[in-house]
Amino acid sequence: TEETLVLVKPDGVARGLTGAILARIEAKGYSLVDLRLVEPDRERLEHHYAEHQGKPFYEPLVDFMMSGPAVAIRVAGERVIEGFRSLAGTTDPTTAAPGTIRGDYGRDWGLPVQQNLVHGSDSPESAARELAIWFA
Ligand code: GTP
Ligand code: MG
Repeated sequence: TEETLVLVKPDGVARGLTGAILARIEAKGYSLVDLRLVEPDRERLEHHYAEHQGKPFYEPLVDFMMSGPAVAIRVAGERVIEGFRSLAGTTDPTTAAPGTIRGDYGRDWGLPVQQNLVHGSDSPESAARELAIWFA
């Protein structure tokens, strides 16, 4: 069965939405395999976000991800990579569909990074790479 990395980003933890987000993952029928509260350093985030290096939102993104604790979750299930991305909604929380995590709980705050509550791996290769970074 497939596994993915989910992060509840610092905005989700700070707003007290960790439980609600976990409940949605469980209600969908996926399994929580491992979970930890993390305060990632810059080096770990630079690995995690290597594909975005050089983009205008890269530095604000790394700073935002160091702004407070996050929660890393190893989630398992058939097609969970695709399934969690669907549950999370599209990247921009203003227009993410209602019924998704980002659509129901997120919005634009006028900040240089889209604070969109969660991260989910986008392919089997990303999932393997990211799980190794967060659950070393
Ligand atoms: P993740 O699950 O967090 O990886 O989101 P994603 O796959 O929907 O987005 P992507 O990997 O393209 O970007 C990673 C993160 O960078 C996003 O979740 C946002 O927090 C931020 N981001 C991405 N694109 C933009 C953008 O165009 N503008 C701003 N301000 N932030 C962005
Ligand atoms: Mg991504």
